Amino acid sequence: MSITTNITSKTQYFLEKEELYGAHNYHPLPVVLTKGRGVFVWDVDDKRYYDFLSGYSAINQGHCHPRIIETFIEQAQKLTLTSRAFHNDVLGEYEEFITKFFGYDKVLPMNTGVEAVETGLKLARRWGYEVKGVPQNKGKIITCEQNFHGRTISVISFSSDESSRRDFGPFTLGFETIPYNDIAALQEALQDGNVVAFLVEPIQGEAGVVVPDEGYISKAAAMCKEANVLFIADEIQTGLARTGKMLACDHENVRPDILLLGKALSGGTMPVSAVLADDEIMLTIKPGDHGSTYGGNPIACKVAMTSLQVLVDEKMAENSEIQGAHLRKELLAMGHEHISVVRGKGLFNAIVIEHPKKDTAWDICIAMKQNGLLAKPTHGDRIRFAPPLLITRAQIDECIGIIKKSMDNF
Ligand SMILES: Cc1ncc(COP(=O)(O)O)c(C=O)c1O
Repeated sequence: MSITTNITSKTQYFLEKEELYGAHNYHPLPVVLTKGRGVFVWDVDDKRYYDFLSGYSAINQGHCHPRIIETFIEQAQKLTLTSRAFHNDVLGEYEEFITKFFGYDKVLPMNTGVEAVETGLKLARRWGYEVKGVPQNKGKIITCEQNFHGRTISVISFSSDESSRRDFGPFTLGFETIPYNDIAALQEALQDGNVVAFLVEPIQGEAGVVVPDEGYISKAAAMCKEANVLFIADEIQTGLARTGKMLACDHENVRPDILLLGKALSGGTMPVSAVLADDEIMLTIKPGDHGSTYGGNPIACKVAMTSLQVLVDEKMAENSEIQGAHLRKELLAMGHEHISVVRGKGLFNAIVIEHPKKDTAWDICIAMKQNGLLAKPTHGDRIRFAPPLLITRAQIDECIGIIKKSMDNF
């Protein structure tokens, strides 16, 4: 971290509080935000920035979207939580809305993304034993190298990121990890009759927006069907219009057997996740088998309906497709000597920095911050560009100017 200039005493005050009293489990850019609206956020010194991370795609609809906030406040003043010990008058309405929206028989509501992943894994195992007839405790789930599905013990059990796993063992059994974007490896893994599911990100987000070859997702889904194995799509980061379609799987007309959603399902207002599947899978879970105190709470349900409706009404998938293509075209046209790769789909993009100095991607992010744009490096040399989906062409052009100016110092 060679560049950490322009930190005011006000910013320093908040940075010190976090350093002193918070666990050191993140490494944020040194910026302290206090306000957000649409594509912009403001820091405690009232400096405005473009948000090019969008809360890891939780804020697809833009910061503090007025309709989502209005829904949130309205429901918060009426009824916030019943737990699932009692019914409430919003849950059923939401369940009908989201299952019809995505075309599934049933939904299981959870909160964070990783809870949706855990739910998907449990459903797949249960289906494997009760429907497919796999012998007890032999069920196997195939996952991909460089995946990111969250942080629980089971989910890091199949992570290939050493820092996510170090000293957290022993790990959960029953996973086999194969290379991503490798149809032959999947074909081989599917030979085992005890495989119950294949869990995959249609585009690997945390790995640095790794887009697989065209046809990979549709071939993988077809092979799973052939092998009587569930195809689980983790669309927690790629879904909800981020890649230019409502789901990234829509690019290849794939309907996952189990669909995992989170993040932008609440437009960045609270943790809301969802698992969608048909009855043959979902009804293997009986009362008491699985759940969550906050899952399906009335605020979450109302907010999720508005968040999905906003994506449709404001044509955010369409805008994501158009502005994303423009962004990649301009990044490529920049022809910067330190950008070795520009990749992505819709407004889900990354550049790979090639530079002899190790921390250059971080330093570029600091320079972009200085110039009014917030982005974060991943895996050292990759920078994700994923602004809220209501960004305009003129704003993209302004951001290209900021990125170019920031990179020209290196
Ligand atoms: C693809 C994917 N799955 C799961 C998760 C975990 O979500 P959460 O942090 O809400 O638990 C993430 C978070 O970045 C993700 O990108």
